[in-house]
Amino acid sequence: MVLLFLLDLSAGREPRGHVRRHAHRHRERQPQQNITLAVILPQSSIKYPWAWPRVGPAVERAIRTINSDPSLLPYHNLTYIFKSSEDERGICSESVASLEAVDLKWAYDPWAFIGPGCTYTAAPVGMFTAHWEVPMITAGAPAVGFYDGYPSVTN
Ligand SMILES: *[C@@H]1O[C@H](CO)[C@@H](O)[C@H](O)[C@H]1NC(C)=O
Ligand SMILES: *[C@@H]1O[C@H](CO)[C@@H](O)[C@H](O)[C@H]1NC(C)=O
Repeated sequence: MVLLFLLDLSAGREPRGHVRRHAHRHRERQPQQNITLAVILPQSSIKYPWAWPRVGPAVERAIRTINSDPSLLPYHNLTYIFKSSEDERGICSESVASLEAVDLKWAYDPWAFIGPGCTYTAAPVGMFTAHWEVPMITAGAPAVGFYDGYPSVTN
């Protein structure tokens, strides 16, 4: 709001009461492109430090902050799709995470992956993301093997 107000003043055309209308018209003229993040993390098992109940609030807050400041990603809207990497017992599953990663890439062509976190789920997805040249950011992937040979992974 403050930024729009300042832009509005510097434009010098619109009176200050019309900040909202100005923002609305601006968006109409330049349609927003979605930037999608693909999140693959344990949905409920908080025994994992990178589980969604622990990481999710930070992701959602970051997305809110970025989307509310039009100078950060002009004409883009950040959004995410969440998929769980758990099997039916709540344990990280290598096959679930791999299949979700392929389905998410196919359906959404995401700009980045958040997770997976467990070593055995992060390893195959880290290979896919390197092949796709898409960054993978995780609070997990703790094995020393990730220091080398996983150029897409930041942990
Ligand atoms: C962006 O995503 C929203 C849902 O989050 C959707 O309604 C909208 O159509 C998408 N816009 C584009 C340009 O793909
Ligand atoms: C922008 O993204 C948020 C979620 O990140 C979503 O709720 C909203 O519908 C999106 N807006 C548009 C215009 O796509």
